[in-house]
Amino acid sequence: MNIKAGILGVGSYLPTKVLDNFHFEKIMDTSDEWIKTRTGISERRVASDEETTSDLASNSALKAIECANLKPEDIDLIIVATATPDMVFPSTACLVQEKIGATNAAAFDISAACSGFIYGITIAKQFVENEMYKNVLVIGSETLSRALDYNDRSTSILFGDGAGAVVIGNVSSGGILSTHLGSDGKGKDFLSIPAGGSKQPASIHTVENNLHAIHMAGNDVYKFAVRIMGEASLKAIEAANLNKENIDYLIPHQANIRIIEASARRLKLPMDKVYINLHRYGNMSAASIPVALDEAYREGKINKGDNVVLVGFGGGLTWGACVIQWSL
Ligand code: ACO
Repeated sequence: MNIKAGILGVGSYLPTKVLDNFHFEKIMDTSDEWIKTRTGISERRVASDEETTSDLASNSALKAIECANLKPEDIDLIIVATATPDMVFPSTACLVQEKIGATNAAAFDISAACSGFIYGITIAKQFVENEMYKNVLVIGSETLSRALDYNDRSTSILFGDGAGAVVIGNVSSGGILSTHLGSDGKGKDFLSIPAGGSKQPASIHTVENNLHAIHMAGNDVYKFAVRIMGEASLKAIEAANLNKENIDYLIPHQANIRIIEASARRLKLPMDKVYINLHRYGNMSAASIPVALDEAYREGKINKGDNVVLVGFGGGLTWGACVIQWSL
């Protein structure tokens, strides 16, 4: 039998607490106007003190499994993409495996920052198409609010918490037509959480200097993102033997509205063919794309047979794009 990997179900979960831009006006030298015009963000979600990355991930996973008409026991493999795991180890994927009762699943995390979800579905596609696993759960989940320095106005206003998940398995039509991944370690210092690993283990020094928070060279990341989002999309479209005229919808990583608009221009797609929820959630790193995918599907923006491009970039530097012919 010819196995073609595609999306069997999709789900997402957002914490209920909302922080709007006016909150930041009160605690730092910024304004709603600056944040909205420079980034497109109006508000973001923040996990409660009791909620962890694996909680958000588990909630989104259960919705994706239900959407696929499956049970947690039907899942063979769990891949969690996150830059904010519950802890260094065990993996967040193992914690999810227990929380949702996926008793037959192997589980591991991947680290590719905001590109993690595209990396995850690329891995899942291989496992499904070589018939090692039937149903693979891929989750992007983040609690970035725990990794922010609220004294740094250039990063703390950008990020939010959330999770999105898909089940990848054999589909009878459409599926994941192509994926394209890339990385460039020369850009490692543009975006990082410098401490907490073997290079700079936790110490009073690392805590006092906020080295457990996200550090970013915003302008360098911006220039890289504007270039790579278009390039990566075009590579994935070419690998799917399609042209940009064949693309029905774009689901980009939600980092900055100006980066998204530049990507749409490169693909010659009007903005009504591009999903945007950045204004409501900010940048949720690995969770941005699956949350946007879930919302786009539920709002009827993508329909069976549509060619959908997913594209993201992030710390590493990393990037990834894929073309999915929607099969739900
Ligand atoms: N409020 C008010 N002023 C601010 C703020 C703020 N929140 N943040 C920065 N500024 C100031 C700066 O200090 C600077 O002031 P100066 O000119 O007096 O020095 C001025 O605004 C302009 O700063 P720039 O950094 O040039 O502003 P820019 O227009 O580039 O926007 C931004 C900054 C929004 C961060 C942009 O560079 C960007 O979006 N970069 C991409 C970031 C990104 O996508 N990161 C996520 C990667 S995903 C991952 O892997 C986690």
